[in-house]
Amino acid sequence: AQLKSTISANKEAKSQIINKNIYGHFAEHLGRGIYDGIFVGENSTIPNTKGVRNDIIKALKDLSIPNLRWPGGCFADTYHWKDGIGPKKERPTIVNRWWGGNTEDNSFGTHDFLDLAKELGAEPYLAGNLGSGEVKELSDWVAYVNGVTKNPMSDLRKKNGQDKPWNVKYWGVGNEMWGCGGNMTPEFYANLYRQYSTFMTDWNNSDKLFRIASGANIDDYHWTEVMMRDIPRGLIEGVALHSYSFSNWEKKGDAVDFSEDEYFATMKSALRMDELIQKHSAIMDKYDPEKKTALIVDEWGGWYEVEKGTNPGFLYQQNTMRDAMIAGVTLNIFNQHSDRVRMANLAQTVNVLQAVILTKGEKMLLTPTYHVMNLYKAHQDAQLIPLNIDSPNYSNKTETLKAVSGSASEKNGVTTISLVNIDSKNSVEASIDLKDFKSKNFTAKIISSNKINDHNSFDKPELIVPKDFKNIKKEKDALKLTLPPFSVVVLTSN
Ligand code: AHR
Repeated sequence: AQLKSTISANKEAKSQIINKNIYGHFAEHLGRGIYDGIFVGENSTIPNTKGVRNDIIKALKDLSIPNLRWPGGCFADTYHWKDGIGPKKERPTIVNRWWGGNTEDNSFGTHDFLDLAKELGAEPYLAGNLGSGEVKELSDWVAYVNGVTKNPMSDLRKKNGQDKPWNVKYWGVGNEMWGCGGNMTPEFYANLYRQYSTFMTDWNNSDKLFRIASGANIDDYHWTEVMMRDIPRGLIEGVALHSYSFSNWEKKGDAVDFSEDEYFATMKSALRMDELIQKHSAIMDKYDPEKKTALIVDEWGGWYEVEKGTNPGFLYQQNTMRDAMIAGVTLNIFNQHSDRVRMANLAQTVNVLQAVILTKGEKMLLTPTYHVMNLYKAHQDAQLIPLNIDSPNYSNKTETLKAVSGSASEKNGVTTISLVNIDSKNSVEASIDLKDFKSKNFTAKIISSNKINDHNSFDKPELIVPKDFKNIKKEKDALKLTLPPFSVVVLTSN
């Protein structure tokens, strides 16, 4: 029998602006993410601007990325920012102890990153080092990049060629402090956080800092409880959450050659984001009913085994239609919880984990995930239209998931509805009740392919790209469309 789904606007539910920062990205010094990815150096034969690939700059600008988190990840708690400023030839090296153990020359440092963020029109999000750094080191970093009044750090910045401060607003106060950041207990970290955040000030800038506490791993609700309970509201603007999608953490499986069971398990893991946000938010609501502190999902995405023959520490993986499904459902979840989730960062931008861009020498390709984020960018800073979705089930032998997920928003009179059907075999007939939508006429784009394992390769970089989706009919007050198996459809009113 044909599976059916009905979708309508939920007029009872509260609505708010979907913060554009939900569409943020994360670029760590990891594998070929920065070096031999984003940054090829000024002397490269690959066209670049101050060492950053021009094709990547263009692709990220087209994507309207609102923010970029750097330099880690686990790397952040080993990074000493002063080693990455001043004449490049004089910079000391650093061994990337978490990721591959290679020696980096620090040629991509604070100026390079902040100039890149400016070029992209993205807010920089700097992750500070608590694990192996000092209070002075982090407070000096704030003074260096944001200092207005004369102080040794702003003088040093000027000497290094940057007269005006960059006004960096978003600051991570450590990363994964329960693990690679120092294996701390939440109670110990909360105290340390209080100390560090006290000495991070906005150094006379009008824009106040937005300080983000290292957050829970997946369902560690106790961690969130302690952050919210032990850190005074005046010292914390956001608390993080990290949750990746995978079929089995111990045996992650191939990024391309995965089975139906692995696909199902990955979808289950991705959809769990909804439950995680609800439960972490419920704890936050207890201490912060006015929702002043944001939940920042600053690491999310699919995580598989590295591509065969590549360095296991470099986390290079291909990106298939499975990843398009992860992106589609996760962004729908974030949109719906945008009252509390006000920033998120996909891990990671180029050549690492669920990347939006892959490179090989001078070649570059855009992954299916890129195309999903590109269609969804219409939701950035738009007014959420909460939805009621009646979805058919997608089941394996023992478990059942909802096949259809979606979210909708309105900005400048344009309504955007993004729908995902994760069912790997069955199409779903969707009927959108337009009664409570201002707009009645829509065009649509679709991301789909013949096989769930399909991906863009360097030989066929455009196998998966968004296509016009003409198969929509208006019947009275309803819009009827058939969502093919594993597809993302984004409708735009005209
Ligand atoms: O994104 C890769 C790694 O995953 C990050 O360095 C770390 O924060 C997380 O465990």
